[in-house]
Amino acid sequence: METDARKSRHLDICLEEDVASRLDAGFSAVRLQHEALPEFALADVDCSARFLHFMLRAPLVISSMTGGTKRARDINRRLAAAAEAAGIALGLGSGRAALEDAQLGQTYAVRDVAPTIPLFANLGAVQLNYGVSVDDARRLVDMHGASALYLHFNPLQEALQLHGDTNFRDLLPKIARLCTALEVPVFAKGVGSGLAVKTALRLLEAGIVAIDVAGAGGTSWALVEGRRTGDATRERIAEAFGDWGQATARATAEMRRALPAVPLIASGGIRNGVEIAKAIALGADLCGIALPFLEAANESEQAVHALIGELVTALRIAQFASGSRRLTDLRAALTL
Ligand SMILES: Cc1cc2nc3c(=O)[nH]c(=O)nc-3n(C[C@H](O)[C@H](O)[C@H](O)COP(=O)(O)O)c2cc1C
Repeated sequence: METDARKSRHLDICLEEDVASRLDAGFSAVRLQHEALPEFALADVDCSARFLHFMLRAPLVISSMTGGTKRARDINRRLAAAAEAAGIALGLGSGRAALEDAQLGQTYAVRDVAPTIPLFANLGAVQLNYGVSVDDARRLVDMHGASALYLHFNPLQEALQLHGDTNFRDLLPKIARLCTALEVPVFAKGVGSGLAVKTALRLLEAGIVAIDVAGAGGTSWALVEGRRTGDATRERIAEAFGDWGQATARATAEMRRALPAVPLIASGGIRNGVEIAKAIALGADLCGIALPFLEAANESEQAVHALIGELVTALRIAQFASGSRRLTDLRAALTL
């Protein structure tokens, strides 16, 4: 019940209040060179992507958001049906609620409407210090029919909560055991403050196979938690972190430069198809978007289809107008 109320409040805050990071994601400073003579037709543009062994019709993942509250069921099912129709990936919200109360598992159940897409389960890495075992994580992956597990890293968000889970001691060996034991790949993601290269290196060493930078510039979890406290002092503390973290564009570029081969997802404040093209040009393999999809799914499944259509159309035009027939050609279109 407590989890239901917390999750539902998160949705309301994200939908109704200004929780956008005070930092810019950095895409306006990234330029793609205009190509006046592409020498191919718009219809020839190919935006399909391969990520590990997953094949996608566009380089897009709906970032992890919800589950664990009745409202989440409709939202997840709308997102999933639209993702299936478009051939893109979907991240489910943190599965902790489903592990604590099996009844809540149904609020994440989408495989019947999304049988073929890559579906990513999600858990807070710190939960490995709060009773979540390797068997629990496996149970969650099986329950969702997930293709991979996202572990999210959110020390700031936990620290800003009144009774947050702030014991991040000695997590790496537990993460390593989890990565070895699970049958599906494990990805690491931030939650809107970024993941530094040096952190990614430690995680890859532990067996993580893909990194989602989840950088700053979009939804700020510091601001979300601040709004939730209902305590003026704590809200001011949270506000002080309103521009915390590494901006997404820069975090993506740095990660790709340091780790040329790592499967890489850019997310955090990506808001249109041109920014998707820019993130791919900076080295991302996929782009993740959260809040705009929550707004669309809160409205209708049709609104989610429309948002995906708009993002993909703008991406394709950005490829055409930069002479990038394939996604991989975008790297060469990057200019000052
Ligand atoms: C309502 C909501 C719930 C979220 N819940 C989770 C979660 O359970 N696990 C997680 O890893 N990230 C969660 N996130 C963070 C997003 O996955 C994403 O990293 C962040 O919102 C930045 O992307 P955006 O700027 O496109 O919203 C949530 C975001 C929103 C808006």
